[in-house]
Amino acid sequence: MRVTAGLVGLASLAFTVPAEAIPAAPAGVCETYPNAALCAQSPSCDTCHLGSPPALNAYGDAVHGELTPDVEKTPTTFLAELGDALRAVEGLDSDGDGVSNLEEIEAGSYPGNAQSFPGVGGTCSEDEVATASLPGHGYNTCSTDFAFLLRRVSLDFCGTSPTFEDMEAVRSSDDPRAIIVKKLDSCLDSEFWLGRDGFLWNLANDKLRPLKAIKSGDDPGPIPLANYVHDYQLYVWTMIDGHDVRDQLRAQYFVRRIEGPPTTYEQTENTPEQGSLLSLELVEPSRRAGLLTTRWALVNFTMFTALPRTAAARAYRAFLGYDIARLEGLQPVGNEPVDYDDKNVAAEACAVCHSTLDPLTYPFTRYRGIDDVANSATYDANRLDDFANQGPNIPSTPEGGVVLGQQVNDLVGWALVAANSDAFARTVVRDLWVRLVGAEPGLDDAEYEQLWIDLRSTHGYSVEAMLHDLVFTEAYSVP
Ligand code: HEC
Ligand code: HEC
Repeated sequence: MRVTAGLVGLASLAFTVPAEAIPAAPAGVCETYPNAALCAQSPSCDTCHLGSPPALNAYGDAVHGELTPDVEKTPTTFLAELGDALRAVEGLDSDGDGVSNLEEIEAGSYPGNAQSFPGVGGTCSEDEVATASLPGHGYNTCSTDFAFLLRRVSLDFCGTSPTFEDMEAVRSSDDPRAIIVKKLDSCLDSEFWLGRDGFLWNLANDKLRPLKAIKSGDDPGPIPLANYVHDYQLYVWTMIDGHDVRDQLRAQYFVRRIEGPPTTYEQTENTPEQGSLLSLELVEPSRRAGLLTTRWALVNFTMFTALPRTAAARAYRAFLGYDIARLEGLQPVGNEPVDYDDKNVAAEACAVCHSTLDPLTYPFTRYRGIDDVANSATYDANRLDDFANQGPNIPSTPEGGVVLGQQVNDLVGWALVAANSDAFARTVVRDLWVRLVGAEPGLDDAEYEQLWIDLRSTHGYSVEAMLHDLVFTEAYSVP
């Protein structure tokens, strides 16, 4: 669009500079600054001109001032002088926006336009900025620096810098976006991304809270009780290959890892590996709720407690992003907490949290945590009968509860409501956003909101599809 405008202007003018000299100016800029973000694509005439040439902006004026005056220039003499002229005005801030000409060129903004500076507006014309931000138009990629983006995608998703050839290819391509997508696709299958101890594996650390001392299975700790590798594998599975990420909470299957490279994963009906009872998954499939009912989750979070509030609070925090201890996600339920275990949680100072937390916890009460070897980490509808000696009302705790204001009959129901919630989709995107963008999403950040809304709808809960949009957000792609 801007090129057309330039050519129209060009045709109607009388020249003191031969016409061929003019289009050569952008190339001259990039000969001087081959690695600048402004040169990720050919810089527009607006770099030096105001709207239609020949009018010069403040930067163009400054450059003009360094050229030999009043000499009719040929393409060769114009370009021969241009490099030195550009260098001579590098240190100035011609448009007075507080950023020097050189810094702007390197960052890909316009040195002659005070509205454009690094991080804002980029190399978009005003028209492009206006259309790019229209709803439904997609992301604003006119300010994307594709060379920068290729490097970032390579490092974040493959763990390596792009090759020199890749960088050259993206700079000279008519369709740099396609190169980024291709790179992303190949990185999403890399060991760095999906292998053991890879990016996704590590992303689960906060949710799973591994504890080497009680690990069972391969390479066990001193008191082997459960193998969290099962949990990692299930987690990674839900994040790759277009799988439905809600299976973090819904899966009634497990996942086996076939060691690579390339590492691959495979769904399995039952336990990923046979071995001692202490690494088997014993909850029957119809009672499973993904990462909430693995042996690891039950042993590590429910442990010995009748009302495993810690397990419920962890699930609420890890998968819905709400930390009750910080008064987040409070949705008080009427007449709660009942205080079945006589812990005094109905006192006013306690009810503020426990009127949400206790009904959230009831559905967890039918799953055994640490018990004798054959019964650890199993489902038992009558489990609470064993706790009558700890409190006479404990066995009357219901299995049904309330999550996010919705009544549920059991933990499988709890997990379904949670998996289908806005809070879950938001948390999935937020975890990746924090690691990839490098900051918490801002309150009501429009790009972030769009990502989780699309994850739930157009992307069918595929994290890989969501990541194809995330890398083109302004937050990620603009330096
Ligand atoms: C690096 C800055 C720069 C860029 C980029 C640039 N120009 Fe120029 N342009 C100049 C300068 C400086 C002059 C004045 C040259 C002189 O007269 O000595 C000029 C002169 C011109 C003139 C001649 C005006 C006249 O009457 O003397 C036209 C037309 C022109 N440019 C068009 C373009 C077009 C079209 C583009 C984009 C394809 C472009 N320029 C890109 C710096 C630039
Ligand atoms: C700010 C919110 C908040 C308040 C106020 C609060 N609790 Fe809790 N309580 C929690 C959370 C969250 C947990 C789950 C613990 C975890 O995250 O590991 C919990 C867990 C518990 C547990 C179970 C501990 C265990 O190890 O299983 C008891 C008992 C308890 N709270 C009693 C109380 C009592 C009594 C009061 C009032 C004096 C109170 N709480 C006030 C948030 C709160």
